[in-house]
Amino acid sequence: MALVPTMGALHRGHLTLMNEARRRVGPEGLVVVSIFVNPTQFGPTEDFARYPRELDADVARCATAGVDRVFAPAADAMYPSGDQTRVRVPTIAAPLCGVSRPVHFEGVATVVTKLFALTGPCVALFGRKDYQQFRLLARLARDLFLPVDVVGVPTVREDDGLALSSRNRYLAADERVLAASIPTALRAARAAYARGERDVGTLEDLVRGRLPVVPEYASLRGADDLVDVGAQLLPNSPAVLAVALRIGATRLIDNTVLGEPDPGLDPS
Ligand code: PAF
Repeated sequence: MALVPTMGALHRGHLTLMNEARRRVGPEGLVVVSIFVNPTQFGPTEDFARYPRELDADVARCATAGVDRVFAPAADAMYPSGDQTRVRVPTIAAPLCGVSRPVHFEGVATVVTKLFALTGPCVALFGRKDYQQFRLLARLARDLFLPVDVVGVPTVREDDGLALSSRNRYLAADERVLAASIPTALRAARAAYARGERDVGTLEDLVRGRLPVVPEYASLRGADDLVDVGAQLLPNSPAVLAVALRIGATRLIDNTVLGEPDPGLDPS
């Protein structure tokens, strides 16, 4: 059985996860999509209340995509009275988004552990746009000996390169234009890396200089467990170049792994 954990507001990126789930389990296997806007992964000032909720439309989208089951639990089913256990993956959770979202990854790790326990998948699919989440969940499954293969699926992008996200709908038209500079900045870094640039500060500055606002971060970390890469990238050590920034009230993230192909950003 393959599980695609989501918070709903399903878009083409989620459909790609569902298709990959089907490819992995075959026509006879079961594809399950969970839809749950998980309260514990939102900080007190974040967008939990206004996060888009469109369960009926999402169930219809799942049916069209050939999903076998939708699991959409209520909050008090996932966190019944007396619930207190939390799952932490501290080192991977600390940098990047962990700096401004200190409770986020504990909430993600906890709810995904619960979803795994409740549904028992052999494979679970996550988008690589949330790269830190993907690496953290891969580490969680390995550390806890969970019998599930955590798979990261390449980011799905708009024609101009903007990574698909349920939060893109918050962008006003002028903000949407500015958001297109994110993939442009990542492409520029990939081009510099391809020309041989290995200086971490130079690559990070190159991204910062192409963004329309000062980003929350534009950082290179080791591609596996997001370790500090030092001042120079080493041969045969892929590194993720990750960015987060606010355009108006909308927080957007994106990334690319230098040292690996990235079909969504590389020239075709
Ligand atoms: O990426 C998401 O949509 C969520 O963080 C997840 C993995 C479904 C956990 O709530």
